[in-house]
Formats: sequence, structure tokens, C-alpha cells
Amino acid sequence: MLDSLWNKRAVLVSGKGGVGKTTLSAAMAVAAARSGRPVLLAELSPDEGGPSTLAGLVGAKDAGAKVVPVRQNLSFVRLSAAEGHRQFLEETLPAKWLAEAALRSRALRRFLEAGPALKEMGLLYQMLTLVRRTHPDGRPLYPLAVLDLPATGHAMALATLPRSLLSLIPGGPIGRAMREGLDLLQDPKRTGVVLTTLPEPLPVSETLSLAKELKDVGLPLSVAVLNRLPEDPFTPESLAALGRLLETHGPHRGQRALERLERAREARQRLQAGTAVPQWGLPDLALTGPALVERLSELLVPTLEEAAHPGGREATP
Ligand SMILES: Nc1ncnc2c1ncn2[C@@H]1O[C@H](COP(=O)(O)OP(=O)(O)OP(=O)(O)O)[C@@H](O)[C@H]1O
Ligand SMILES: [Mg+2]
Repeated sequence: MLDSLWNKRAVLVSGKGGVGKTTLSAAMAVAAARSGRPVLLAELSPDEGGPSTLAGLVGAKDAGAKVVPVRQNLSFVRLSAAEGHRQFLEETLPAKWLAEAALRSRALRRFLEAGPALKEMGLLYQMLTLVRRTHPDGRPLYPLAVLDLPATGHAMALATLPRSLLSLIPGGPIGRAMREGLDLLQDPKRTGVVLTTLPEPLPVSETLSLAKELKDVGLPLSVAVLNRLPEDPFTPESLAALGRLLETHGPHRGQRALERLERAREARQRLQAGTAVPQWGLPDLALTGPALVERLSELLVPTLEEAAHPGGREATP
């Protein structure tokens, strides 16, 4: 299946706060690296940023805006607006010394840091630069980039940014770079958004409206992830039998766990009906940090194998 998530150039992991975006981004990158795909794991960092949680989850040395190797096939970078601006000026001004001089200009730096749109432009530009990098023989250096988008606003801002800048600066190097960025982000062959949510009514409702917003700005949704699913040991028959048993015995301590299971089942159905993209379910595990990432990455490997040997829908772990 050529349009499988794992065959894209850029995977944007998005979703509401605290649903597991950073954990999932790390797990996806580790899974891809393990199955032999060179992957760049990228975090959008505010330039003030403290230490990177994402770097910690994969054991990367957090080296600012430079790409650092983490393990075989896995590199990590913190995309920064300032680095994007530097690369942008270096590529568009006729001489490197001019770019350096420009960046030393406090007026220019203030200008670049002032508008949120210009910050996003820097981030997008750095991302583009990395996606475009190739080996001497022309193969992409990072065939797959997984981006942890810290807030849902970021995905929208990135997607709408080129358009808003294009209307200001239709031609020239900025216009060209932004058009290329927009082409990449809106191309369902090369870009896929992974929308993450929790198996509860409110997060699912929020996610469904987010899916609509993504559609409106032309960002291709690829996979919906239900993260932290409760363990479900029941077949429909055994669940019905248990329900009858509990009815005759009145309120029970297991009642809440059963209600949570029921909400998770409903969440699956609503998400499926509302998004019509493949769904991954990931369990709520009693692990944290890198151990959680390792375990989740193992659970994602079957989806990679399915992508490598297409034969139906993307598998659900
Ligand atoms: N499948 C899971 N099982 C157990 N715990 C999980 C799972 N997924 C995520 N968590 C935990 O949930 C918390 C939030 O996860 P994470 O930081 O990845 O979310 P996030 O969406 O990136 O949050 P933010 O919006 O703050 O960036 C973390 O403590 C993480 O360990
Ligand atoms: Mg996060």
C-alpha cells in the first residue's frame, strides 16, 4: 500500500494536550529505525526551550538545532525558528558573509522573532531543508521524518502559514520556499498526520473537530490513534454474561472498570465513523519514559511490516 503512513516523507503527530503525542512520536521513530528505515525524529521547540522530553525518551543527546545520531537509523533534531532563519538567509543571500552580517543585525533578528508567522516560517524552512537533504547518490538522507507537534495550533499554523505568506510575498526565494513547503505538507503521498486521542467521549469529540480543521487547511490525515486503551479481556459473549451477573448482585467494584471499557468501545466506533482512516489502538501500559517507548514501538512493528508487504488494510496493533 503505497500511501501507507510508513512510506511518507513527513509524519506529523498531532492531538490535544497530554494524549501521548511525544511518547507516540518517539515510539514510531524507534519502530521505524528498528525495522531498518532511516528516520529523523524532530521536535518543534520554542527557541527559549528547556531540556527536551522527546530527546530524553529516545536517549538522544539534546544538541540544540543540530541533528544528532541516536542509534542505528535514528537521528534526532530540535527544529528551531532561529536555525531556519539562518539557513534561509544563507541560501537566499548571495554570499555567506552577508547572511552572517544580516543575522548580526539586531533589527533583523527582532523582525524575525516578532511575528509568529515568521517563527513558523523558520521552523518550516529548517524542516524542508532536512527533508531535502540527500546522499551523494541522490537518495534522501532522511526518507522519513517524524515530527512531534507540541500543540494542535502548530499543525494549523504550519499548514496555513505558507498560504498567508504567499499572499504577501508571491515571488522570489521566500515565495518559492513557502510554496515548496505547502506542496510537501498538503501532498497525501508525502505527508501524513497522525491524530492521537484518548478513548473517552470528550477527547474523541475534540479530535473529530480537529480532524475537520485539518481537512479544511488541506493537511492529509493518515491514521487515528486511540492511546491508553484499557485492557479488554472480554469477548462480547463473556461481557454480556458478566453484565447479567452484576445486575443480580447490584453495584460492584468492577463496575467502573467495565464502564471505562464500554466508553473505549464507543470511542473506537465514533472515531472510525468520524474519520474513515485506519485506526491504531495502543494499550494503557504500566510503564513510563523510555521503557514505555520501547514497548509501544514493539507494538507498532506489525504496522510497518504491513506497509512493507502490502496485502490489505494497515494492521491494528
Ligand atoms: N500508552 C500509554 N500507556 C501509559 N502511559 C502513557 C501512554 N501514552 C502516554 N502515556 C503517559 O501519558 C503522559 C503524557 O504523554 P505525552 O507527554 O507523550 O503526551 P503529549 O501529548 O506529548 O503531551 P503534551 O501535550 O503535554 O506535549 C506521560 O506521562 C506518558 O508517560
Ligand atoms: Mg508532548
